[in-house]
Amino acid sequence: MGNVGAKDVPVLLSPEGLRIDGRRVDELRPIKIQAGALKHADGSAFVEWGANKVMAAVYGPREVHPRHLQQNTKAVIQCKYNMAAFSVDERKRPGLDRRSQEISKVIAEALESVVFVEEFPRTSIDVYIEVLQANAGTRCAGIVAASVALADAGIPMVDLLPAVAVGKAGGALVLDLKKEEDNFGEADLPMALVPQSGRLVLLQMEGHMTPAELSQALDMGVAGCRQIYERMKAALRERYAVEPAAEGSA
Ligand code: CDP
Repeated sequence: MGNVGAKDVPVLLSPEGLRIDGRRVDELRPIKIQAGALKHADGSAFVEWGANKVMAAVYGPREVHPRHLQQNTKAVIQCKYNMAAFSVDERKRPGLDRRSQEISKVIAEALESVVFVEEFPRTSIDVYIEVLQANAGTRCAGIVAASVALADAGIPMVDLLPAVAVGKAGGALVLDLKKEEDNFGEADLPMALVPQSGRLVLLQMEGHMTPAELSQALDMGVAGCRQIYERMKAALRERYAVEPAAEGSA
């Protein structure tokens, strides 16, 4: 008799050290960022990252609703992270659940540490993150999309906020987990980095790592964030690059 169910667990790392999708351990999934994807928001961005598709829209600074959240010395950042019912294999029940509340909260806190909130007292900066397709790492894709959308809205920030998860899968540390690695792997460590200061403003962990692995995972994640940072800046440059004036035009 075979080991029932064992065949369901995929091989996460080949003997050659390649991952389930052929990536090396320190390789990101392909990432595409479009700044200014929506017409009606003050700022927006669309991120396709591996099989994730995430849209972020930003409004504000504007009047605070509900009123009691208003703060006299700074803007409040209100973030709504939502997964579409059709974004995952098994239809997700629409609406707020504990997971999306938690993710909305940690993203709002991370964004607050890069936005100059003191410049806009008594206002709200509203950030909507809609996950249209999910394949692990959606909170990181959401942070990337939201911070490009904030920049697109012209909201002053210390820096953009690249984010990525490092995990442990098949016994090895791997950058930017995809779904199978997240489901069957041993650990998941999402983080967001302020590139200019090197500060991490989001760090969560699920699963187990040794202290030595954690230290190596942080280095891997920071290097991954720096690569994503370049793509984020490129997306904004692409959106705002001034076309050279056509010959003969005034
Ligand atoms: O997406 P992220 O890795 O930030 O968060 P997670 O809670 O670790 O979820 C990992 C992945 O599980 C998501 O990206 C989805 O692909 C999947 N998921 C799902 O299939 N159904 C849910 N209700 C929640 C998550």
